[in-house]
Amino acid sequence: MLLEARGLHIAFGGVIAVDEVSFTVKAGEILGMVGANGSGKTTCLNMLTRLIAPGRGAMMLDGQDYTALAPDRLVALGISRTFQNLRLFKDLSVAENVALGVQAGMQAKGTPRRERAIWARVHELLDMGGIRVHAGVLPASLPYGTQRVVEIARALASSPRLVFLDEPFAGMSSDEARMLSKLLLDVRESSGMALVIVDHNVEVLVSVAERLIALAEGRVIAEGAAAAVLSDPAVVRSYVGTDV
Ligand SMILES: Nc1ncnc2c1ncn2[C@@H]1O[C@H](COP(=O)(O)OP(=O)(O)OP(=O)(O)O)[C@@H](O)[C@H]1O
Ligand SMILES: [Mg+2]
Repeated sequence: MLLEARGLHIAFGGVIAVDEVSFTVKAGEILGMVGANGSGKTTCLNMLTRLIAPGRGAMMLDGQDYTALAPDRLVALGISRTFQNLRLFKDLSVAENVALGVQAGMQAKGTPRRERAIWARVHELLDMGGIRVHAGVLPASLPYGTQRVVEIARALASSPRLVFLDEPFAGMSSDEARMLSKLLLDVRESSGMALVIVDHNVEVLVSVAERLIALAEGRVIAEGAAAAVLSDPAVVRSYVGTDV
């Protein structure tokens, strides 16, 4: 098993945000994570990427317990992520933003720093994302969906084994979402990396994810094939009264 989350649990000031969440991800698998607003999806990702420490529980990558790993060791372990709100460097060009991801990956693997290798990899990623024409511009000058692709290219740049994407399809037009789905499937095909994708755009999500996990009030309420999870009464109920 590539990733194993075991009984992850955290409370903020008495409010239980994530409640005994356990799930697994196989190498090369794409897992979709759904749930109404506030159900604990981002908090799960924050624990699994060592941004916050779980109150209880453990996480393993390839059998290695990384529950207490220093966050800056995560890239070396083979995990990267994107954020629900874009976190691109505003004063750096698209290519420079992606180059930072490439450098982080090389540094983590102890590869000697070679400019030519860095830029070759940057261009490969920009081509893959269909954003090479934007290489020299500042991210803010691009449409939101394109900026998201830049952030995803940066997350993929370190050649991770597992990438967590927090609402990659949010704010995208249907054309942009279709292109991003294809990019994610292509990347999985060529690199074999596994993806955990949180998104409210269920239609697009199920077009890429093999399996879904549904959260409500911090708990896993359903898991399995998309159709079964989405028609599960507990899942349907968890969305009642929400605008999603
Ligand atoms: N740092 C924090 N301090 C206090 N409460 C928090 C913190 N982070 C998250 N929460 C609470 O934990 C719960 C889960 O939030 P989380 O952001 O994980 O939900 P989500 O499923 O990602 O929602 P959305 O779909 O809106 O992004 C919410 O009640 C939220 O208010
Ligand atoms: Mg969230």
